[in-house]
Amino acid sequence: MRSHYCGEVNETHIDGDVRVCGWVHRRRDHGGVIFIDLRDRSGLLQLVFDPDDAETFELAERLRPEYVIQAAGSVRHRPEGTVNPKLATGQVEVVCGELNVLNASETPPIQLDETEHVGEEARLRYRYVELRKPRMQRHFQLRARVTRALRAFLDERGFLDLETPILTKATPEGARDYLVPSRTHPGQFFALPQSPQLFKQLLMVAGMDRYYQIARCFRDEDLRADRQPEFTQLDIEASFVDEAEIMALNEAMIRQLFAEVLEVELPEPFPRMTYAEAMRRYGSDKPDLRIDLALVDIADLVADAEFKVFSGPANDPAGRVAALRVPAGGELTRKQIDDYTDFVGRYGAKGLAYVKVNDAAAGREGLASPILKFLSDEAITGVLERTGAADGDLIFFGADRAQVVNDALGALRVRLGHDLGRVEAGWRPLWVVDWPMFEWDAREKCWHALHHPFTAPAVDDADALRAAPGEALSRAYDLVLNGTELGGGSIRIHEPAMQRAAFEVLGIGAEEAEEKFGFLLEALRYGAPPHGGIAFGLDRLVMLMAGADSIREVIAFPKTQTATDLLTGAPGAADAAQLRELGIRLRERPRGESTEG
Ligand code: AMO
Ligand code: AMP
Repeated sequence: MRSHYCGEVNETHIDGDVRVCGWVHRRRDHGGVIFIDLRDRSGLLQLVFDPDDAETFELAERLRPEYVIQAAGSVRHRPEGTVNPKLATGQVEVVCGELNVLNASETPPIQLDETEHVGEEARLRYRYVELRKPRMQRHFQLRARVTRALRAFLDERGFLDLETPILTKATPEGARDYLVPSRTHPGQFFALPQSPQLFKQLLMVAGMDRYYQIARCFRDEDLRADRQPEFTQLDIEASFVDEAEIMALNEAMIRQLFAEVLEVELPEPFPRMTYAEAMRRYGSDKPDLRIDLALVDIADLVADAEFKVFSGPANDPAGRVAALRVPAGGELTRKQIDDYTDFVGRYGAKGLAYVKVNDAAAGREGLASPILKFLSDEAITGVLERTGAADGDLIFFGADRAQVVNDALGALRVRLGHDLGRVEAGWRPLWVVDWPMFEWDAREKCWHALHHPFTAPAVDDADALRAAPGEALSRAYDLVLNGTELGGGSIRIHEPAMQRAAFEVLGIGAEEAEEKFGFLLEALRYGAPPHGGIAFGLDRLVMLMAGADSIREVIAFPKTQTATDLLTGAPGAADAAQLRELGIRLRERPRGESTEG
């Protein structure tokens, strides 16, 4: 039906004939001549309809936005003064002698003009129109290039692209499961995989040696800009490897991807940081290294302070008191500081103490702060020295349980980085290593796995793991890029005894372990090789590469914040016959009962 894509037509085609197809992006009538910007996935092309050709002209007059047309004509230079240097096809236009309307369109519910502001709801409901936008077309072309490059890299290295089941048993990755009722076994349910974790380990036991999959994962969890209930992982596993080999391979893959697709050279090697240092300096396990602000500990300086807000956490082993220096932060207004105080409140902080540094050399006299009167001279000098504060700076403080301080000041650091224009341009990848195996949940009084229960500990001794779970480090690694957790993985437990010990620490008793993961424990008894792997959030990777601010921008048909699909109306009710077949009777939800319970 066509000879060229719109965006391909250029000066080399002048005086030649082209036949193009696409959507009417815009129609302008000028001095008796009709101009159509025709759009397809490659870009825009200007068509010209002249009144001399009455029949075609009349047809062109009836064109409306988003009509689908085919047009043919000869390419010519645009007249002087009408050249559009911003457009790839901006030097040329096509004088059309032929026009076929392939389909009409109702007035589109969304303006394709990028500047037009339309609510997210309409954009999701009419996603097929939204996706016609040049920006979206670019995102999905990029996404396809990314997956192609990743597959090529892994194919070349002998990784097998293998599929794993979608209707399966729960694979715990820390979220709720999506359940699917079984018709043939009434009252029983499949779970959709939160990741292919267990199957990829079984594939290693099966001797497949090197596996990858572009795998759909399902997690019923609270949604955010970088989380969807179904999302895609590039999932990788290999046998007879250690963490250095896995990290080297994946680093090479990401480096090659950026070079090929974005022509960006990432640092070699990627820097590494321990989990402990990431938390200490950045209050986060996914630090954004583009921002040069850092936390410093000051508990020792304020342990004897009169100020209970500081001395309390300073003397509590689970507490933390930290300072965050904001260069030139002295210019922050009272209102801004109040806003930041509200902001850290969302992370559980009970306040946000600060000191303005007017004249650092003058000590106490050169500072302004409501909390100065509670601090000794030594504490003040110590804080100034440790933060390196200079005249005109401001220092924020957090004092609380370590987790609250980390969450609050960690998030504040990133927010300040953006607000104050302190985010360096470019790409800052980082491996975070030496993760603790477990973290203590003070509320539920139990240990949680920081990665998943199949991650190998650094110690080889199952009894040592049982004896001091809080001290055990794991053989896990996360890849962070510009403050986003791009991927995570680990060397796995491959011995049944160690796997049982890990389950025990997590409070998964022998019976429960057998019921949930018996198949894995059994497989580990039949010659499981040492193995390990990683999974990347493909949507997040493409989001970052596209410069988009949400993964919804790079998923063709994403869901809303409340996990619904506005386009199809899913989820929807099931009819009575279906439910009967599945052996399901819906319970009336008493008024006021929440969906949480
Ligand atoms: P993990 O749970 O860290 O590891 O997931 C790997 C990566 O997947 C991405 N991701 C998500 N992306 C979008 N929406 C979500 N809801 C979502 N949840 C996670 C993140 C994350 O880094 N089986 C292990 C991997 C392994 O050990 O090999 C796993 O799933 O970018
Ligand atoms: P208050 O004594 O509650 O009036 O607090 C004095 C200053 O300390 C105020 O600026 C508060 O915002 C701040 N503040 C209170 N609690 C904390 C905390 N846990 N961490 C940091 N600053 C705090």
